[in-house]
Amino acid sequence: MIDRRAFLAAPVALAACGSGEAAVVPIERPVPSLKSIAPFPIGAACMTGQLSDRVWSNLVSEHFSQLTADWEMKMEYILQRDGSFRFDAPDRIAAFARDQNLRLFGHTLIWYAQSHPWFEALTGDRARFAAEYDRYIATVAGRWRGQVVGWDVVNEAVSEDGQGLRDCVWSQGLGGIDAYILRAFEQAKLAAPEAVLFLNDYNLENNPVKGATYLRLVERLLKAGAPITGLGTQSHLDIDIPAGQITVFMRELAQFGLPIHVSELDASLRDDGRLPDLRPRRQRIERQTARVAELAEAFMALPRAQQFAFTTWGVRDIDSWLRRGDKDDGQDSPLLFDAKGGANPMFHAAANAFAP
Ligand code: G3I
Repeated sequence: MIDRRAFLAAPVALAACGSGEAAVVPIERPVPSLKSIAPFPIGAACMTGQLSDRVWSNLVSEHFSQLTADWEMKMEYILQRDGSFRFDAPDRIAAFARDQNLRLFGHTLIWYAQSHPWFEALTGDRARFAAEYDRYIATVAGRWRGQVVGWDVVNEAVSEDGQGLRDCVWSQGLGGIDAYILRAFEQAKLAAPEAVLFLNDYNLENNPVKGATYLRLVERLLKAGAPITGLGTQSHLDIDIPAGQITVFMRELAQFGLPIHVSELDASLRDDGRLPDLRPRRQRIERQTARVAELAEAFMALPRAQQFAFTTWGVRDIDSWLRRGDKDDGQDSPLLFDAKGGANPMFHAAANAFAP
């Protein structure tokens, strides 16, 4: 006789099998809606190709309240070689967000990694470069004015090793690193005065040197009058960093009193491309859930006014940039949901941290 309480407590089911013995198999217990239990928006990166995917859209409807365009709101998609603009894809994402009552987050206006021939041809003519720079920001940041709740105005200004700042086509064209960053924020504020304007970067938790350089940059830009009104930490987590590192950085980030966006969370089970990782998967998942839990708890500990949004860089593992290209081993599970829409262990790590 099966004890009903025990049966209901354990998410298992009985399945008949040949021997007449009842086999006990795990059943998927319904998971809570993440956006319902979190006291702040839950975001996800998206592409137009996902909008008609039933599994994807059901997960977004159930768990998310904000979307970020993975790449189709970037210069690489919008700016054409002749200096013209195309907006078909980002307009579809904006329309989907509006129709589904989802917030829309703009990513990203100016990024060192998205140099463009149109601008490279102008680096010798500062006046023209500046005019085109301003035109690009005004056109793009102004297009969804009133719908986009925030913009990553400048992305990844700090060097990979965190020892300094990146020189790039923008600093070359405008006469310096602070010059391009300040100008971008000033132009974005003119174009989208209601939007929260973010300086966004990655590896800030993973690499304390880089985190410290980012914080010094924020301090310097704010002192110079940059209208930075939000701070974005991408949180592409390295699951092998020491416990506590994330918490320390989040506390330091909060010192400016500005809204904070965990803007691109994923937590690869791979190890710096050292494939196949030799440690058992179970151990790597334990490390992953521990770091995701730490990030979610650190975000929960912020004052509500500083909890802008908690965004994952995709919905399902198969949607992740980490599951594309030659480094993909088909095994990585860096996001909240598996290909079928089942909740991964890191979903539960986040949900447990967000639950009231
Ligand atoms: O889908 C098109 C395909 O139709 C076309 O033939 C092909 C050739 O150009 O491009 C394909 O689009 C690619 C897109 O990913 C979808 O796969 C783009 O070229 C490619 O540039 C784009 O890469 C994105 C990358 O940023 C550069 O924009 C990744 O998806 C995106 O996840 C990644 O995201 C970045 C954040 O913006 C900043 N932080 C780091 C993060 C990960 O690198």
